[in-house]
Amino acid sequence: MKQFNAVELVKQAMPLEVKHQGLIAWVTQVATLTRPARVVWCDGSQEEYDRLSAQMVEAGTLKKLNPAKRPNSFLACSAPSDVARVEDRTFICSARREDAGPTNHWIPPVEMRDTLQGLFDGAMEGRTLYVIPFSMGPLGSPIAHIGVELSDSPYVVTNMRIMTRMGRAVYEVLGSDGAFVPCVHSVGAPLAAGQADVRWPCNDTKYIVHFPETREIWSYGSGYGGNALLGKKCFALRIASTMGREQGWLAEHMLILGVTDPAGRKYHVAAAFPSACGKTNFAMLIPPQGMDGWRVSTIGDDIAWIKPGQDGRLYAMNPEAGYFGVAPGTSEKTNFNAMATLKENVIFTNVALTDDGDVWWEGMTDTPPAHLIDWQGADWTPEIGRETGRRAAHPNARFTAPAAQCPSIDADWENPAGVPLDAFIFGGRRSTTVPLVTEARSWTEGVYMAATMGSETTAAAAGEQGVVRRDPFAMLPFCGYNMSDYFAHWLEMGNRLAASGATVPKIFCVNWFRKGPDGKFVWPGFGENMRVLQWMLGRIEGQAGGVEHVGGVSPSYRDLNWSGSDFSAAQFEQVMSTDAESWREELLLHAELFAKLHHHLPAALIDVKAQIEKRLAA
Ligand code: GTP
Ligand code: SPV
Ligand code: MN
Repeated sequence: MKQFNAVELVKQAMPLEVKHQGLIAWVTQVATLTRPARVVWCDGSQEEYDRLSAQMVEAGTLKKLNPAKRPNSFLACSAPSDVARVEDRTFICSARREDAGPTNHWIPPVEMRDTLQGLFDGAMEGRTLYVIPFSMGPLGSPIAHIGVELSDSPYVVTNMRIMTRMGRAVYEVLGSDGAFVPCVHSVGAPLAAGQADVRWPCNDTKYIVHFPETREIWSYGSGYGGNALLGKKCFALRIASTMGREQGWLAEHMLILGVTDPAGRKYHVAAAFPSACGKTNFAMLIPPQGMDGWRVSTIGDDIAWIKPGQDGRLYAMNPEAGYFGVAPGTSEKTNFNAMATLKENVIFTNVALTDDGDVWWEGMTDTPPAHLIDWQGADWTPEIGRETGRRAAHPNARFTAPAAQCPSIDADWENPAGVPLDAFIFGGRRSTTVPLVTEARSWTEGVYMAATMGSETTAAAAGEQGVVRRDPFAMLPFCGYNMSDYFAHWLEMGNRLAASGATVPKIFCVNWFRKGPDGKFVWPGFGENMRVLQWMLGRIEGQAGGVEHVGGVSPSYRDLNWSGSDFSAAQFEQVMSTDAESWREELLLHAELFAKLHHHLPAALIDVKAQIEKRLAA
């Protein structure tokens, strides 16, 4: 047998643009460890995308959708054990445990490196190692950061081409000594000689590992979403948040939108909601009937990098180039812009297949098609669905689509300067207790609200669903360092803003998800959220009314614009009300969080809590 020669494999097809000895050495090192059958340096071309897609169709990983219905689009169905992010297998391996903090899983770096060496040893045998060069942020712009992912999954390659600026030009920007974040990914399913592949290779053992000090990412065992597309949560949130802490900026789980009022004044808002809690929808909002002249434009739907500008204000940019969005619940009625984005050039994952070669998911239409192939490849009919409770699409089914295809895309979405922020919004999914909207009276009170935010868990992460947990800043699974230090960083950013004399963005808290006694959402949500957004802008301008209460300032019924709506004052009461008893219960949960985070917890936040308690007792 011919001896394995990594140097030869790596050099064979290396493009001329690759001049970075550090990159070549690292690829060679990983190839030596993982022993792939081939190495492919990706160029990001359409030809490459088409070739890999065709290859995956051949292998059964992808189905090509009917080109008349959904041109240039594919359906991937994953293994049932690999359908979401795995938070309990996600590790922040900082040198010191306290730098990962009590909300992250930590293993000493030396021990973890040892584990990874074992796992990756021969992990890519029989597979191709793809070198995926990508830029988070517009290519070559001063705020962009480069990563290179080495993956044995062609599905990762084609998704990364949509989600990031991926390809040959990145090698040029890197030059001979540019900095990049090394990301190693294997599905953990080596193939012996002659062994047939499966449709969705993965491994029951999963590790999603970050070394913040050396800015490295290693991911093993999963091919799905945030576990495998390492530019997204691993790089643009976990690693970037540690970079931001050192360098004085923020990497956040936030959408960014522009909103223009009927007079033509434009504002920019960044909003953090936990996974599957409405970011994509809010970012693409279409104002409801009766709110003519208002317009929302989309800058980003999941991640924001926020930096202070020359004028002292905060500027936000979207480091991604595509949407990896939740499919179920997306319809022409709830999110028209998303549906328009999904017309072509899309990779769908874990949705159902229609008999005419198109896709369907729960909530896409009121009436499901009479027959479908569900995400696990079985026959599905509405009757089967009713009888077995089986869904046609997995609740965390997703679409991967180019951002540029979104009709509401903002003209400034690729502006390297970013957009100046007027407000931050934080929102959880809470069927009880938390009112529709609350304004923080100060930056510090806003940081407190965000820090203590609770939300019911969703299908975006493996594990139990619908359980209320604290999800500070919607960053619980994504903060790459100690959560208390992260709170301190936010407070410090506020101090810097105030000191510069620039306008400090207002902070609001929202909850679209209050339920009535019938278990149904009371607030109509989606486009109707524009009414809440208008109130916020009114508050910024000092024009809208509001009532102070224990936790901040909220509108009365008359303070919102109800033009074109039949939402009643009684219904409004249902989504706004909180009694002292629920406040007390909620504060116990804040206390629990603060006890967990006591190490380095900023005193300013403890003060806010004391003030709330005092008001409550009064
Ligand atoms: P990630 O991509 O996981 O970070 O999620 P996201 O925050 O972008 O959530 P997304 O906008 O995709 O919404 C998740 C689910 O919530 C979808 O099923 C939506 O239809 C639903 N949803 C979004 N906005 C609203 C709303 O205002 N009201 C209600 N009731 N549901 C909503
Ligand atoms: C989320 O879970 O918040 C997502 C999807 O945006 S994933 O990329 O899988 O993390
Ligand atoms: Mn997300």
